[in-house]
Amino acid sequence: RTRRRTVWVCQSCGLESSGYYGRCPSCGAWGTMVEQAVDATPATGDAKGTGAPVQELSRVTSAERTRLSLRSPEFDRVLGGGLVPGALVLLGGDPGIGKSTLLLQAALRLASEGLRVLYVAAEESPEQIRLRADRLGKTSDGVLILAETALDRAIEIAQELDPAILIVDSIQTVFLSSSESSPGSVSQVRDCTAQLLQFAKRARTPVFLVGHVTKEGLIAGPRVVEHMVDVVLYLEGERFHQHRLLRAAKNRFGSTNEIGVFEMTDSGLLDVSNPSALFLAERASHAAGSAVVVTLEGTRPILIEVQALTSSAGYGTPRRIATGFDATRLQVLVAVLSKHAGLKLGEQDVFVNVTGGYRLVEPAADLGVALAIASSASGLPLDDDAVFIGELGLAGEVRSVHGLERRLQEAARLGFRSAYVPASARISSPVSGLRIVAVGSIAQAVSSLAV
Ligand code: TYD
Ligand code: MG
Repeated sequence: RTRRRTVWVCQSCGLESSGYYGRCPSCGAWGTMVEQAVDATPATGDAKGTGAPVQELSRVTSAERTRLSLRSPEFDRVLGGGLVPGALVLLGGDPGIGKSTLLLQAALRLASEGLRVLYVAAEESPEQIRLRADRLGKTSDGVLILAETALDRAIEIAQELDPAILIVDSIQTVFLSSSESSPGSVSQVRDCTAQLLQFAKRARTPVFLVGHVTKEGLIAGPRVVEHMVDVVLYLEGERFHQHRLLRAAKNRFGSTNEIGVFEMTDSGLLDVSNPSALFLAERASHAAGSAVVVTLEGTRPILIEVQALTSSAGYGTPRRIATGFDATRLQVLVAVLSKHAGLKLGEQDVFVNVTGGYRLVEPAADLGVALAIASSASGLPLDDDAVFIGELGLAGEVRSVHGLERRLQEAARLGFRSAYVPASARISSPVSGLRIVAVGSIAQAVSSLAV
Protein backbone atom coordinates (compact mmCIF):
# COMPACT_ATOMS: atom_id res chain seq x y z
CA ARG A 1 0.00 0.00 0.00
CA THR A 2 1.51 3.28 -1.06
CA ARG A 3 1.42 6.19 1.32
CA ARG A 4 -0.44 9.21 -0.03
CA ARG A 5 1.69 12.24 -0.63
CA THR A 6 1.04 15.13 1.71
CA VAL A 7 2.20 18.70 2.18
CA TRP A 8 2.12 21.04 5.17
CA VAL A 9 0.03 24.13 4.53
CA CYS A 10 0.02 27.26 6.66
CA GLN A 11 -3.62 28.05 7.51
CA SER A 12 -2.84 31.71 7.73
CA CYS A 13 -0.94 32.61 4.59
CA GLY A 14 -1.24 29.50 2.44
CA LEU A 15 2.47 28.63 2.33
CA GLU A 16 3.06 25.03 1.29
CA SER A 17 6.10 23.09 2.44
CA SER A 18 7.20 19.48 2.50
CA GLY A 19 8.04 19.65 6.19
CA TYR A 20 6.47 20.89 9.41
CA TYR A 21 7.32 24.22 11.01
CA GLY A 22 6.15 25.33 14.46
CA ARG A 23 6.28 28.86 13.14
CA CYS A 24 5.43 29.61 9.52
CA PRO A 25 8.61 30.87 7.80
CA SER A 26 6.52 33.04 5.49
CA CYS A 27 4.02 34.89 7.67
CA GLY A 28 5.44 34.14 11.11
CA ALA A 29 2.22 32.68 12.57
CA TRP A 30 2.64 29.99 15.22
CA GLY A 31 1.05 26.54 15.05
CA THR A 32 -0.72 27.12 11.76
CA MET A 33 0.88 24.33 9.68
CA VAL A 34 -1.59 21.56 8.88
CA GLU A 35 -0.84 18.38 6.95
CA GLN A 36 -2.94 17.94 3.83
CA ALA A 37 -3.15 15.47 0.98
CA VAL A 38 -1.85 16.71 -2.34
CA ASP A 39 -4.62 16.96 -4.90
CA ALA A 40 -3.88 14.94 -8.03
CA THR A 41 -5.82 17.42 -10.11
CA PRO A 42 -5.73 20.99 -8.94
CA ALA A 43 -9.21 22.48 -8.72
CA THR A 44 -8.02 25.86 -9.87
CA GLY A 45 -7.24 26.85 -13.40
CA ASP A 46 -9.28 26.41 -16.55
CA ALA A 47 -7.28 24.42 -19.06
CA LYS A 48 -9.51 25.47 -21.95
CA GLY A 49 -9.40 29.19 -21.22
CA THR A 50 -12.44 31.39 -21.62
CA GLY A 51 -12.75 31.26 -25.40
CA ALA A 52 -13.03 35.03 -25.38
CA PRO A 53 -12.71 36.93 -28.67
CA VAL A 54 -10.15 39.65 -29.38
CA GLN A 55 -11.90 43.00 -29.06
CA GLU A 56 -11.25 46.58 -29.99
CA LEU A 57 -10.65 48.26 -26.62
CA SER A 58 -12.75 51.28 -27.53
CA ARG A 59 -15.73 49.00 -28.18
CA VAL A 60 -15.56 47.33 -24.78
CA THR A 61 -18.46 48.60 -22.68
CA SER A 62 -17.20 50.59 -19.77
CA ALA A 63 -18.03 49.03 -16.43
CA GLU A 64 -19.15 52.44 -15.23
CA ARG A 65 -22.28 52.32 -17.34
CA THR A 66 -23.33 48.90 -16.22
CA ARG A 67 -22.95 49.16 -12.48
CA LEU A 68 -25.78 47.70 -10.46
CA SER A 69 -27.02 49.86 -7.63
CA LEU A 70 -27.76 48.04 -4.38
CA ARG A 71 -30.38 50.66 -3.54
CA SER A 72 -28.36 51.79 -0.56
CA PRO A 73 -26.34 54.99 -1.05
CA GLU A 74 -23.92 53.93 1.69
CA PHE A 75 -23.30 50.46 0.24
CA ASP A 76 -23.00 51.84 -3.31
CA ARG A 77 -20.57 54.52 -2.17
CA VAL A 78 -18.14 51.98 -0.73
CA LEU A 79 -18.31 49.86 -3.87
CA GLY A 80 -17.39 52.91 -5.94
CA GLY A 81 -20.88 53.54 -7.26
CA GLY A 82 -22.55 50.12 -7.31
CA LEU A 83 -21.62 46.61 -8.32
CA VAL A 84 -19.61 45.93 -11.46
CA PRO A 85 -20.76 42.92 -13.55
CA GLY A 86 -18.70 39.86 -12.75
CA ALA A 87 -17.15 41.38 -9.63
CA LEU A 88 -16.19 39.00 -6.84
CA VAL A 89 -16.63 40.81 -3.54
CA LEU A 90 -15.45 39.50 -0.19
CA LEU A 91 -17.40 40.82 2.78
CA GLY A 92 -15.44 40.26 5.98
CA GLY A 93 -16.17 41.04 9.58
CA ASP A 94 -16.51 39.64 13.07
CA PRO A 95 -19.19 37.02 13.64
CA GLY A 96 -22.47 38.70 14.58
CA ILE A 97 -21.53 42.12 13.23
CA GLY A 98 -24.27 42.05 10.57
CA LYS A 99 -22.78 40.66 7.35
CA SER A 100 -25.69 38.33 6.59
CA THR A 101 -28.13 41.10 7.48
CA LEU A 102 -26.45 43.59 5.15
CA LEU A 103 -26.51 41.18 2.21
CA LEU A 104 -30.00 39.87 2.86
CA GLN A 105 -31.31 43.43 2.94
CA ALA A 106 -29.65 44.18 -0.40
CA ALA A 107 -31.12 40.95 -1.78
CA LEU A 108 -34.61 41.87 -0.58
CA ARG A 109 -34.41 45.34 -2.09
CA LEU A 110 -33.30 44.03 -5.47
CA ALA A 111 -35.86 41.25 -5.41
CA SER A 112 -38.65 43.72 -4.67
CA GLU A 113 -37.78 45.34 -8.00
CA GLY A 114 -38.07 42.08 -9.83
CA LEU A 115 -34.40 41.09 -9.91
CA ARG A 116 -33.53 37.52 -9.08
CA VAL A 117 -31.09 36.94 -6.24
CA LEU A 118 -29.65 33.57 -5.29
CA TYR A 119 -28.57 33.27 -1.65
CA VAL A 120 -26.50 30.19 -0.92
CA ALA A 121 -26.98 29.52 2.78
CA ALA A 122 -24.13 27.29 3.87
CA GLU A 123 -24.21 28.38 7.47
CA GLU A 124 -27.83 28.87 8.42
CA SER A 125 -31.05 27.05 7.63
CA PRO A 126 -33.63 28.59 5.28
CA GLU A 127 -35.89 28.93 8.35
CA GLN A 128 -33.32 31.09 10.11
CA ILE A 129 -32.97 33.29 7.06
CA ARG A 130 -36.74 33.56 6.73
CA LEU A 131 -36.85 34.65 10.36
CA ARG A 132 -34.30 37.35 9.66
CA ALA A 133 -36.21 38.51 6.57
CA ASP A 134 -39.40 38.73 8.61
CA ARG A 135 -37.58 40.77 11.19
CA LEU A 136 -36.45 43.13 8.45
CA GLY A 137 -40.12 43.60 7.68
CA LYS A 138 -39.82 43.14 3.94
CA THR A 139 -41.64 40.74 1.73
CA SER A 140 -39.21 38.04 0.78
CA ASP A 141 -40.58 37.28 -2.68
CA GLY A 142 -37.92 36.88 -5.33
CA VAL A 143 -35.04 35.90 -3.10
CA LEU A 144 -34.07 32.31 -3.81
CA ILE A 145 -32.52 30.44 -0.90
CA LEU A 146 -30.36 27.42 -1.49
CA ALA A 147 -29.27 25.59 1.65
CA GLU A 148 -26.17 23.92 0.24
CA THR A 149 -22.59 23.52 1.35
CA ALA A 150 -21.40 21.75 -1.82
CA LEU A 151 -20.20 24.65 -3.91
CA ASP A 152 -20.05 22.70 -7.18
CA ARG A 153 -23.77 22.14 -6.98
CA ALA A 154 -24.49 25.71 -5.94
CA ILE A 155 -22.58 27.03 -8.94
CA GLU A 156 -24.39 24.64 -11.28
CA ILE A 157 -27.71 25.92 -9.99
CA ALA A 158 -26.53 29.50 -10.29
CA GLN A 159 -25.64 28.84 -13.90
CA GLU A 160 -29.17 27.61 -14.60
CA LEU A 161 -30.96 30.35 -12.68
CA ASP A 162 -28.75 33.17 -13.94
CA PRO A 163 -29.43 35.48 -10.97
CA ALA A 164 -28.63 39.21 -10.93
CA ILE A 165 -26.45 38.56 -7.87
CA LEU A 166 -25.10 35.45 -6.20
CA ILE A 167 -24.46 35.52 -2.45
CA VAL A 168 -22.41 32.80 -0.76
CA ASP A 169 -22.68 32.81 3.04
CA SER A 170 -19.98 31.86 3.99
CA ILE A 171 -16.69 30.92 2.31
CA GLN A 172 -15.66 29.03 5.45
CA THR A 173 -18.56 26.57 5.27
CA VAL A 174 -18.68 25.65 1.57
CA PHE A 175 -16.55 22.96 -0.04
CA LEU A 176 -15.72 21.46 -3.42
CA SER A 177 -16.20 17.72 -3.60
CA SER A 178 -13.07 17.42 -5.76
CA SER A 179 -10.92 18.77 -2.97
CA GLU A 180 -10.39 16.47 0.00
CA SER A 181 -9.58 18.93 2.72
CA SER A 182 -12.19 20.05 5.21
CA PRO A 183 -14.34 23.19 4.77
CA GLY A 184 -12.62 26.29 6.06
CA SER A 185 -9.13 24.90 5.45
CA VAL A 186 -6.78 26.95 3.40
CA SER A 187 -6.96 24.84 0.26
CA GLN A 188 -10.77 24.57 0.34
CA VAL A 189 -11.17 28.28 0.82
CA ARG A 190 -8.75 29.00 -1.98
CA ASP A 191 -10.22 26.48 -4.41
CA CYS A 192 -13.79 27.60 -3.67
CA THR A 193 -12.82 31.21 -4.27
CA ALA A 194 -11.19 30.23 -7.56
CA GLN A 195 -14.39 28.47 -8.69
CA LEU A 196 -16.51 31.46 -7.76
CA LEU A 197 -14.13 33.77 -9.56
CA GLN A 198 -14.48 31.72 -12.71
CA PHE A 199 -18.23 31.68 -12.41
CA ALA A 200 -18.40 35.43 -11.81
CA LYS A 201 -16.24 36.24 -14.83
CA ARG A 202 -17.89 33.73 -17.15
CA ALA A 203 -21.49 34.56 -16.26
CA ARG A 204 -20.71 38.26 -15.61
CA THR A 205 -22.67 37.84 -12.39
CA PRO A 206 -21.54 39.80 -9.33
CA VAL A 207 -20.79 37.45 -6.44
CA PHE A 208 -20.72 38.30 -2.74
CA LEU A 209 -18.66 36.08 -0.53
CA VAL A 210 -19.02 36.29 3.25
CA GLY A 211 -15.90 35.63 5.32
CA HIS A 212 -15.46 35.71 9.07
CA VAL A 213 -12.57 37.56 10.57
CA THR A 214 -10.45 35.93 13.23
CA LYS A 215 -9.17 37.68 16.34
CA GLU A 216 -5.98 38.61 14.51
CA GLY A 217 -8.08 40.68 12.16
CA LEU A 218 -7.50 38.51 9.11
CA ILE A 219 -10.16 36.64 7.27
CA ALA A 220 -9.91 33.11 8.64
CA GLY A 221 -8.12 31.09 6.01
CA PRO A 222 -5.59 32.36 3.60
CA ARG A 223 -4.66 35.87 2.73
CA VAL A 224 -4.72 34.38 -0.76
CA VAL A 225 -8.48 35.00 -0.92
CA GLU A 226 -7.95 38.71 -0.55
CA HIS A 227 -5.57 38.63 -3.50
CA MET A 228 -7.98 36.67 -5.68
CA VAL A 229 -11.13 38.72 -5.26
CA ASP A 230 -11.82 42.09 -6.88
CA VAL A 231 -13.13 43.87 -3.82
CA VAL A 232 -12.53 43.33 -0.10
CA LEU A 233 -15.03 44.99 2.22
CA TYR A 234 -14.97 44.95 6.00
CA LEU A 235 -17.98 45.55 8.17
CA GLU A 236 -16.80 46.93 11.48
CA GLY A 237 -18.34 48.19 14.65
CA GLU A 238 -18.26 47.97 18.37
CA ARG A 239 -20.39 45.34 19.98
CA PHE A 240 -22.18 47.80 22.24
CA HIS A 241 -22.67 50.58 19.73
CA GLN A 242 -25.33 50.52 17.08
CA HIS A 243 -23.41 51.99 14.22
CA ARG A 244 -21.51 49.91 11.68
CA LEU A 245 -18.82 51.07 9.28
CA LEU A 246 -18.33 49.47 5.91
CA ARG A 247 -14.83 49.97 4.53
CA ALA A 248 -13.14 48.85 1.34
CA ALA A 249 -9.70 47.37 2.00
CA LYS A 250 -9.27 46.69 -1.69
CA ASN A 251 -11.30 47.79 -4.69
CA ARG A 252 -10.37 47.14 -8.29
CA PHE A 253 -13.28 49.33 -9.37
CA GLY A 254 -13.05 52.30 -7.06
CA SER A 255 -11.35 54.09 -4.25
CA THR A 256 -10.56 52.42 -0.94
CA ASN A 257 -10.99 55.63 1.01
CA GLU A 258 -14.75 55.75 1.18
CA ILE A 259 -16.70 54.45 4.13
CA GLY A 260 -20.34 53.59 4.45
CA VAL A 261 -22.10 54.21 7.75
CA PHE A 262 -25.06 52.17 8.96
CA GLU A 263 -27.05 51.95 12.12
CA MET A 264 -28.15 48.53 13.40
CA THR A 265 -31.77 48.78 14.43
CA ASP A 266 -34.50 46.31 15.35
CA SER A 267 -35.41 46.16 11.70
CA GLY A 268 -31.98 45.80 10.18
CA LEU A 269 -29.22 48.11 9.05
CA LEU A 270 -30.23 51.64 8.11
CA ASP A 271 -28.16 53.95 5.93
CA VAL A 272 -26.77 56.87 7.90
CA SER A 273 -26.42 59.74 5.45
CA ASN A 274 -25.35 62.17 8.17
CA PRO A 275 -22.89 60.27 10.38
CA SER A 276 -21.74 63.36 12.28
CA ALA A 277 -25.19 63.79 13.78
CA LEU A 278 -24.96 60.22 15.04
CA PHE A 279 -21.52 60.71 16.58
CA LEU A 280 -22.38 64.05 18.18
CA ALA A 281 -25.82 63.05 19.41
CA GLU A 282 -24.90 62.57 23.06
CA ARG A 283 -22.49 65.44 23.49
CA ALA A 284 -22.82 67.29 26.79
CA SER A 285 -22.55 71.05 26.53
CA HIS A 286 -19.97 73.07 28.46
CA ALA A 287 -18.08 70.00 29.59
CA ALA A 288 -14.36 70.29 30.22
CA GLY A 289 -12.25 67.76 28.33
CA SER A 290 -14.43 67.59 25.24
CA ALA A 291 -13.49 68.71 21.73
CA VAL A 292 -15.03 68.19 18.32
CA VAL A 293 -12.66 67.16 15.54
CA VAL A 294 -13.31 66.78 11.83
CA THR A 295 -11.91 63.65 10.23
CA LEU A 296 -12.00 63.01 6.51
CA GLU A 297 -12.99 59.55 5.30
CA GLY A 298 -12.36 59.54 1.58
CA THR A 299 -14.35 62.47 0.32
CA ARG A 300 -16.60 62.59 3.34
CA PRO A 301 -15.94 64.73 6.41
CA ILE A 302 -17.16 63.31 9.72
CA LEU A 303 -17.40 65.28 12.95
CA ILE A 304 -16.62 63.37 16.11
CA GLU A 305 -16.37 64.24 19.77
CA VAL A 306 -13.13 63.42 21.58
CA GLN A 307 -13.13 63.27 25.36
CA ALA A 308 -10.14 63.47 27.64
CA LEU A 309 -9.78 63.02 31.36
CA THR A 310 -6.75 63.78 33.48
CA SER A 311 -6.52 62.75 37.11
CA SER A 312 -3.66 62.49 39.55
CA ALA A 313 -1.82 59.25 39.19
CA GLY A 314 -0.76 58.49 42.74
CA TYR A 315 2.38 56.36 42.87
CA GLY A 316 4.06 54.70 39.93
CA THR A 317 4.14 55.51 36.25
CA PRO A 318 1.14 57.57 35.19
CA ARG A 319 -1.10 55.90 32.67
CA ARG A 320 -1.92 57.09 29.16
CA ILE A 321 -4.91 55.16 27.95
CA ALA A 322 -6.68 55.70 24.66
CA THR A 323 -9.86 54.19 23.29
CA GLY A 324 -10.38 54.73 19.58
CA PHE A 325 -7.09 56.59 19.29
CA ASP A 326 -3.52 55.40 18.87
CA ALA A 327 -1.83 54.93 22.26
CA THR A 328 1.63 55.93 21.01
CA ARG A 329 0.21 59.05 19.43
CA LEU A 330 -1.37 59.93 22.77
CA GLN A 331 2.02 59.69 24.49
CA VAL A 332 3.50 61.99 21.87
CA LEU A 333 0.72 64.54 22.33
CA VAL A 334 1.15 64.46 26.12
CA ALA A 335 4.88 65.07 25.66
CA VAL A 336 4.24 67.96 23.25
CA LEU A 337 1.73 69.52 25.68
CA SER A 338 4.20 69.22 28.57
CA LYS A 339 7.15 70.60 26.68
CA HIS A 340 5.57 73.32 24.56
CA ALA A 341 2.38 74.36 26.33
CA GLY A 342 3.63 74.14 29.90
CA LEU A 343 1.08 71.57 31.04
CA LYS A 344 2.13 69.55 34.08
CA LEU A 345 1.05 66.06 33.11
CA GLY A 346 3.99 64.19 34.63
CA GLU A 347 1.96 62.97 37.60
CA GLN A 348 -1.36 62.76 35.84
CA ASP A 349 -3.14 59.80 34.32
CA VAL A 350 -4.44 60.76 30.89
CA PHE A 351 -7.40 59.00 29.33
CA VAL A 352 -8.71 59.71 25.85
CA ASN A 353 -11.94 58.35 24.45
CA VAL A 354 -13.34 58.77 20.96
CA THR A 355 -17.10 58.63 21.29
CA GLY A 356 -19.39 56.24 19.49
CA GLY A 357 -16.74 53.53 19.29
CA TYR A 358 -15.17 55.27 16.31
CA ARG A 359 -11.45 54.75 15.57
CA LEU A 360 -9.72 58.02 14.86
CA VAL A 361 -6.56 57.55 12.81
CA GLU A 362 -6.06 60.87 11.08
CA PRO A 363 -3.31 63.23 12.34
CA ALA A 364 -5.76 66.08 11.67
CA ALA A 365 -7.36 65.14 15.00
CA ASP A 366 -4.18 65.98 16.98
CA LEU A 367 -5.13 69.55 17.80
CA GLY A 368 -8.56 68.56 19.09
CA VAL A 369 -7.19 65.68 21.18
CA ALA A 370 -4.44 67.87 22.68
CA LEU A 371 -6.90 70.65 23.52
CA ALA A 372 -9.34 68.19 25.08
CA ILE A 373 -6.49 67.06 27.37
CA ALA A 374 -5.56 70.66 28.18
CA SER A 375 -9.22 71.44 28.86
CA SER A 376 -9.60 68.54 31.27
CA ALA A 377 -6.35 69.42 33.04
CA SER A 378 -7.52 73.00 33.60
CA GLY A 379 -11.15 72.20 34.23
CA LEU A 380 -12.16 74.87 31.70
CA PRO A 381 -14.42 73.84 28.84
CA LEU A 382 -13.57 74.59 25.22
CA ASP A 383 -15.81 76.63 22.99
CA ASP A 384 -18.91 74.47 22.43
CA ASP A 385 -19.52 75.79 18.95
CA ALA A 386 -16.00 75.19 17.69
CA VAL A 387 -14.26 72.46 15.77
CA PHE A 388 -10.50 71.85 15.98
CA ILE A 389 -8.48 70.82 12.95
CA GLY A 390 -4.72 70.38 12.70
CA GLU A 391 -1.80 68.02 13.06
CA LEU A 392 0.76 68.66 15.81
CA GLY A 393 4.46 68.56 15.13
CA LEU A 394 7.04 67.70 17.77
CA ALA A 395 8.03 71.34 18.05
CA GLY A 396 4.48 72.16 19.06
CA GLU A 397 3.62 73.68 15.69
CA VAL A 398 0.16 73.18 14.20
CA ARG A 399 0.58 71.68 10.75
CA SER A 400 -1.79 71.87 7.83
CA VAL A 401 -4.08 69.04 6.78
CA HIS A 402 -5.55 68.03 3.44
CA GLY A 403 -9.15 68.73 2.47
CA LEU A 404 -9.51 71.63 4.92
CA GLU A 405 -12.24 73.45 3.02
CA ARG A 406 -14.37 70.38 2.76
CA ARG A 407 -14.06 69.87 6.52
CA LEU A 408 -14.98 73.47 7.20
CA GLN A 409 -18.04 73.31 4.98
CA GLU A 410 -19.31 70.27 6.85
CA ALA A 411 -18.73 71.96 10.21
CA ALA A 412 -20.68 75.01 9.02
CA ARG A 413 -23.45 72.83 7.67
CA LEU A 414 -23.83 71.21 11.09
CA GLY A 415 -24.17 74.56 12.77
CA PHE A 416 -20.70 75.08 14.23
CA ARG A 417 -19.73 78.75 14.56
CA SER A 418 -15.96 78.69 14.62
CA ALA A 419 -13.07 76.55 13.47
CA TYR A 420 -9.52 76.47 14.82
CA VAL A 421 -7.26 75.71 11.88
CA PRO A 422 -3.52 75.66 11.16
CA ALA A 423 -2.12 79.17 10.63
CA SER A 424 -0.27 77.90 7.57
CA ALA A 425 -3.49 76.83 5.85
CA ARG A 426 -4.68 78.74 2.81
CA ILE A 427 -8.43 79.16 2.64
CA SER A 428 -9.40 80.52 -0.75
CA SER A 429 -13.04 81.34 -0.05
CA PRO A 430 -14.69 82.14 3.28
CA VAL A 431 -17.11 79.57 4.64
CA SER A 432 -20.34 81.33 5.52
CA GLY A 433 -21.29 81.30 9.18
CA LEU A 434 -17.89 80.05 10.30
CA ARG A 435 -15.35 82.19 12.13
CA ILE A 436 -11.85 80.99 11.27
CA VAL A 437 -9.23 81.13 14.01
CA ALA A 438 -5.71 80.48 12.75
CA VAL A 439 -3.40 78.83 15.27
CA GLY A 440 0.33 78.49 14.72
CA SER A 441 1.28 76.47 17.76
CA ILE A 442 -0.22 74.44 20.57
CA ALA A 443 1.07 77.04 23.05
CA GLN A 444 -0.88 79.74 21.24
CA ALA A 445 -4.02 77.59 21.11
CA VAL A 446 -3.84 76.76 24.81
CA SER A 447 -3.29 80.37 25.86
CA SER A 448 -5.86 81.93 23.53
CA LEU A 449 -8.50 79.47 24.71
CA ALA A 450 -7.39 79.94 28.32
CA VAL A 451 -7.54 76.22 28.95
P1 TYD B 1 -25.82 38.79 11.35
O1 TYD B 1 -26.19 39.44 10.08
O2 TYD B 1 -26.34 37.42 11.59
O3 TYD B 1 -24.23 38.79 11.57
P2 TYD B 1 -23.10 38.00 10.77
O4 TYD B 1 -23.68 37.44 9.53
O5 TYD B 1 -22.03 39.04 10.52
O6 TYD B 1 -22.60 36.95 11.70
O7 TYD B 1 -26.26 39.81 12.50
C1 TYD B 1 -26.42 39.34 13.75
C2 TYD B 1 -26.70 40.43 14.75
O8 TYD B 1 -27.45 41.52 14.29
C3 TYD B 1 -27.44 39.80 15.88
O9 TYD B 1 -26.75 40.07 17.07
C4 TYD B 1 -28.77 40.43 15.85
C5 TYD B 1 -28.55 41.73 15.16
N1 TYD B 1 -29.73 42.17 14.40
C6 TYD B 1 -30.39 43.32 14.80
O10 TYD B 1 -30.04 43.96 15.78
N2 TYD B 1 -31.47 43.75 14.05
C7 TYD B 1 -31.90 43.07 12.96
O11 TYD B 1 -32.88 43.49 12.33
C8 TYD B 1 -31.20 41.88 12.58
C9 TYD B 1 -31.64 41.09 11.38
C10 TYD B 1 -30.12 41.47 13.32
MG1 MG C 1 -23.94 35.42 9.05
